[in-house]
Amino acid sequence: MRDHVKSFEDDQFVRIRKEFSLDPAMVHLSMLSLSSHPSSVKSAIERYRVELDRSPYLFLRANGERLDRAARQSLAGLLRGQACHIILCQNTSVGLNLVFNGLQLNEGDEVITSIHDHYSSSVGLDCVCVRTGATMCRVRLYEDGGAVLSDQLVERTVAAVTGRTRLIVLTWVHSSTGLRLPIKTLMRELNQLNDGRDERRQILLCLDATHAVGVLNIDINDLRKTFIVSACHKWLCGPRGTAFVWGDDTALSALSPIVPSFSSPLMTQFLGKLPCEGRFWPGEHLSPGGFVCFEHRWAIPSAIEVFNSLGIQQVEERLLGLAGGLKSAVIANPRLRLITPVQPEDSAGIVCFEKPGTEPEAVFEALLDQGIVGSVSPYSKPYVRLTPGIFTSAEDIDRATMALSRI
Ligand SMILES: Cc1ncc(COP(=O)(O)O)c(C=O)c1O
Repeated sequence: MRDHVKSFEDDQFVRIRKEFSLDPAMVHLSMLSLSSHPSSVKSAIERYRVELDRSPYLFLRANGERLDRAARQSLAGLLRGQACHIILCQNTSVGLNLVFNGLQLNEGDEVITSIHDHYSSSVGLDCVCVRTGATMCRVRLYEDGGAVLSDQLVERTVAAVTGRTRLIVLTWVHSSTGLRLPIKTLMRELNQLNDGRDERRQILLCLDATHAVGVLNIDINDLRKTFIVSACHKWLCGPRGTAFVWGDDTALSALSPIVPSFSSPLMTQFLGKLPCEGRFWPGEHLSPGGFVCFEHRWAIPSAIEVFNSLGIQQVEERLLGLAGGLKSAVIANPRLRLITPVQPEDSAGIVCFEKPGTEPEAVFEALLDQGIVGSVSPYSKPYVRLTPGIFTSAEDIDRATMALSRI
């Protein structure tokens, strides 16, 4: 197993692991859904909570905009983008639906998505299509996660494009199978398609990136006419109830606010004032207004700081390595079938498998009896999932390997 994690300094890892107050009796391989935080994040939340409890109005008035901007700066830094392009919201589900509903879709427009996407995306798009009269094309990108051909994923998406396509919605890393889409190839194809189209018929891409951010070393400068949406409360181990949408200039300019922002030209106009001097931040204008759990939002930079201190490239190598260890353990047991593609470049941190003839819930329980907390994917074809995080040790993977061998 240790070969898989050699790129990560042990002392760095031990330091991070000590920051989590996870139950040491269990091996936690399920935090792709909702994470525990390192102590630095907990202290930041507590620090802001104390300040807000002392004087909510004054603290917010004096610090609100600055701390919101600091949260945007830190997220943009992780993705190598600009803070002004970050919309802050509560979770991936809200972020996706801000995009779907904020775009001007009309009757006759077409949306392409896949059959592999999460409930929040799939049902959100159904509602938007009913409301706007846009039509939807749901593509099956692959038959079986384990045997997927990466070129085929892009070919099947592009084959569904027509002259009426306005939006493509896909998931970067599938929580149903652990498969990772080849985003660079997809982007190349989309750029070519858009080059031949007039300005009003450009195709936008919306990526549910909630299992890519905090795992992969992402450079959003590779993306054009694209939104990415991610929670901070999954792989980033950030404050619960925090998430963001990033879009490039073209993508954001196609979006209208759904809930008016408290920090935007709309508010200035409402108050009958002149617009403020300084640069306009589209991400602020598009962020839903109203008061939120500020102490959580303002603690986002503490979570990003953990990733910066580790190095996002090192995190990617480690998580892919740990996932590789889990895949080897699944493959070693002839009663189990690995669903996630075995190649690291076709997957990320999620490892899905099944025991043919046995309900995934029963396998989940059998692992739990041995102290391993996995999860079952919430899709019509459910699989057992095991997902490491920055808090996972090589010993955890050894324990999981032992438990898998007994299934
Ligand atoms: C691919 C995917 N998208 C969206 C969500 C919903 O995330 P959130 O709870 O942040 O809304 C999940 C849940 O884990 C997911 O797996």
